[in-house]
Amino acid sequence: MVNIRQTGEDIFWIGASDRRIELFENLFPVEKGVSYNSYLVLDEKTALFDTADVSVSEQFLENLSGTLGGRALDYLVVLHMEPDHCSQIRTVAALYPELTIVGNAKTFTMLGQFFPETASVKRLEVKEGETLSTGKHTFHFVTAPMVHWPEVMFAYDDATKTLFSADAFGTFGALDGGLFADETDFECDYLDEARRYYANIVGKYGMQVQAVLKKAAGLDIQCICPLHGPVWRKDLAWFIDKYDKWSRYEAEEDSIVLIYGSIYGHTASAAARLAAKLREKSGRTVRVFDVSKTHSSDLIGEIWRSGTVVLCSPTYNNGIYLPMQALLHDLAALGLKNRTFALVENGTWAPVAGKLMREELEKLKDCRILEDVLTIRSALHAADEERVEQFAAAVIA
Ligand code: FEO
Repeated sequence: MVNIRQTGEDIFWIGASDRRIELFENLFPVEKGVSYNSYLVLDEKTALFDTADVSVSEQFLENLSGTLGGRALDYLVVLHMEPDHCSQIRTVAALYPELTIVGNAKTFTMLGQFFPETASVKRLEVKEGETLSTGKHTFHFVTAPMVHWPEVMFAYDDATKTLFSADAFGTFGALDGGLFADETDFECDYLDEARRYYANIVGKYGMQVQAVLKKAAGLDIQCICPLHGPVWRKDLAWFIDKYDKWSRYEAEEDSIVLIYGSIYGHTASAAARLAAKLREKSGRTVRVFDVSKTHSSDLIGEIWRSGTVVLCSPTYNNGIYLPMQALLHDLAALGLKNRTFALVENGTWAPVAGKLMREELEKLKDCRILEDVLTIRSALHAADEERVEQFAAAVIA
């Protein structure tokens, strides 16, 4: 059955959600699923903006043919060539052989790599600032390299003031009937997932996101149509501000995230005592996570949210506890900046995790690492209360 929504004059969302998916990119757990958005413009000419993932292909193709209602498809505009959006290009081109694929030079290089059999399909190559008219609507192309791949483009429609923003402004999470963000409790149901999506998928490319945000600032945007998650037609400034902060690596909150690894519970116990002291002394929100239990993508989302990060690690094989080591590796790969770190190490005979975590964190730019390390020998006891108190005071300061 066709399941579509209208997002603006002549513009229809024809995407679908996948709730069966376990791991997005075969990497990130998505308990709430994910949506793959595709948009169809029914103007004097018809234009499809991106296809969808193979997992929702049946629904997507039914939506496409049902919305076209027997009309031909004139254009397939490819804003992003990652397979979660391009997987159906070959099928769409076979179903609508008269169409013209619209993309930039990099789009067509990737199209040839993924689908060489589309070489005979008509093509229209566009560059930054060029336009495509479908009649009443004129779409302006804005290149957005590395948000999240090099070929990514945005398209801006003059007539409806709609920005088709590719992966930008997207989020994990299936759509629960509400397509528009204002039809959902976005802050409660999607914001954590939007942050996790941003930090893990696009987080490395903050500079490029900033560049495209500057370009977009010159446009009168009334609606944002991303490739994942809700469409924005209200409170756009609120969400753009989140993106601005995230891409400047600026903490969203003055909160503290405390992440610990613990083999037998002693470091966990110390982390709990430290968290209580931090909360009591600062009044700031403190969130505590077990690095072995929480997926690194969630931890990275939390680190993107908070200004202060406390890492507590046992010493393991004369190194850092392995899940903590993996988290530090991810942070370096994503190029996190501008955070304050405090370190707690545990070691029964030779604690070195603090020194080694510091060496990893020193690879990050614009981060402050507290000089004092709280060293635990096996376990904390009542006699250590004063030490914990002083350490908590130093973290807060
Ligand atoms: Fe949703 Fe970069 O693909």
